[in-house]
Amino acid sequence: MNGKLIGAVLVVAAFGGGLYLGGQREATVITDGAKGESYSGGFRATEDLGAGTAAAVYEGGEVRIVRDGESIQEAVNAANPGDTIRVMPGTYTETVYIDKDGIRLIGVIEEGAWPTLEGERRLNDAVLYSGNNIVVENLKIVHYKGNAIMGQAGNNFEIRNNLIVDTGVYGVFPQLGQNGIVEGNIISGIEDAAIYVGMSDNIHVAHNEVFDSVAGIEIENSRHAIVENNYVHDNTGGILAFITPGLPIKTTRDVIIRNNFVVNNNTANFGAPGSTVSGIPAGTGVLVMAADEVVIEDNIITGNKTAGILVVDHANAANVTIDPESDPTPDRVAILDNFMMNNGYDTIDEIKALMLTELKTGNPDIVRAGAARDGCIVNRHRYTVVGMGNFSDCEFDNTDNIDTYLLPEPVAAREIDQSEQGKITYLGICTGCHTYTGRMIGPPVQVIQAMYMDNPEGLAEYIAQPVKKRQDYPEMPPQDYLSEEVRLAVAEYMLSVSN
Ligand code: HEC
Repeated sequence: MNGKLIGAVLVVAAFGGGLYLGGQREATVITDGAKGESYSGGFRATEDLGAGTAAAVYEGGEVRIVRDGESIQEAVNAANPGDTIRVMPGTYTETVYIDKDGIRLIGVIEEGAWPTLEGERRLNDAVLYSGNNIVVENLKIVHYKGNAIMGQAGNNFEIRNNLIVDTGVYGVFPQLGQNGIVEGNIISGIEDAAIYVGMSDNIHVAHNEVFDSVAGIEIENSRHAIVENNYVHDNTGGILAFITPGLPIKTTRDVIIRNNFVVNNNTANFGAPGSTVSGIPAGTGVLVMAADEVVIEDNIITGNKTAGILVVDHANAANVTIDPESDPTPDRVAILDNFMMNNGYDTIDEIKALMLTELKTGNPDIVRAGAARDGCIVNRHRYTVVGMGNFSDCEFDNTDNIDTYLLPEPVAAREIDQSEQGKITYLGICTGCHTYTGRMIGPPVQVIQAMYMDNPEGLAEYIAQPVKKRQDYPEMPPQDYLSEEVRLAVAEYMLSVSN
């Protein structure tokens, strides 16, 4: 992490006077593998939790067929809530905007031939939806520059069985949504996160394969999420639970990461310089940064050369600007049984320095760097652990009580009052790339405010047709699909925010 992950001085301050310097070692105890108490979760909807559907089903929708050579967008424009759009195999070079509720966009795969959205390395996004109850399924998406599938404040979404290759910054990116499923997608070659759940609640991410990307699966500034049964390999970092500072929603908590394969995530970091993920050391299996109540259970974590599991606070993360309003410390992280092997075999100097302070040798499976409060771990002696001295033994050893955090019924569609249009657009779209204080994909909002203080019109004009300004940043994608009023509303809102 650019030398940022801990200096030796801080290390001694953090661990000095701990168990290891006291000369006493605890007795080695391995508890048996039988299941005991379950985590009760930070959230229970009802006793009868949802069966795993998110999008509401509408009565009497029509089916509309889109054939090779036709436009998916035209079908969306003509559709009504409840309609299903079936896209036949073929090549579609377009960006599809879905700004109404209840649209099911479902590809038809015939004998292995997919409907393919082809961005030709010039289009920014393949599918952008801001409606509620949206389903996006069975699409092959290649060569876009921005996002393959991005949700902008839509609730009850299902993003399923898509094949996404080499599509720029984010693969599947639901932002500011509640009650959503991301499952069965195969995603590779993404510069930031293959699956990026941003500022969302009640999310289920399962059965995906993500690889050859900088971050495999990232749960950021979100609550009540389960990440399970995914195959996460050959990324720079595998599965991440983050608080990114400077975003309007300040917490990440209650994230269960279980039954995933997290294997050989050793790809050299090719994230945009300065972006948060560009600070992840290659070879990180699971990374918890500042997030609370993250439970890591029954994963198979092997071959990640820096560490299998890394728990850090904001002070020890590269490319992170401290936000006085978000708690930089991970609280109540629970590391339950995991199968871990062959991790940490070529770790970074900062972790080697940490190991020295504890007189540890071997290859680190689990590492804590910086502050962490009230963490716990099961069967610590199975692994080479570093900085786990202040983690107690967990009072539960499984999450069997919790099948899903999806809600039993779809949540009501978000009603957006005209006066809130700017805010929702800012939260749903702009904060995907801009934070208040720090560099994300784009420059900090503070910098933008200084430039455009009395000139919302100028800002609104810029975002319709952005020109390349900064050598060390990528281009900003045009937001001309937003109406002129919405562009002005979001400009005014961006200039008014204060965190
Ligand atoms: C996909 C990422 C992305 C999204 C989404 C995004 N931006 Fe940007 N933005 C950038 C990047 C990258 C730059 C820097 C471009 C440059 O300097 O060439 C930028 C620059 C800007 C600037 C600086 C303009 C200038 O004159 O220097 C403004 C203003 C801005 N964005 C506003 C917005 C607003 C408002 C939204 C939401 C509607 C938004 N951006 C959404 C990536 C993004």
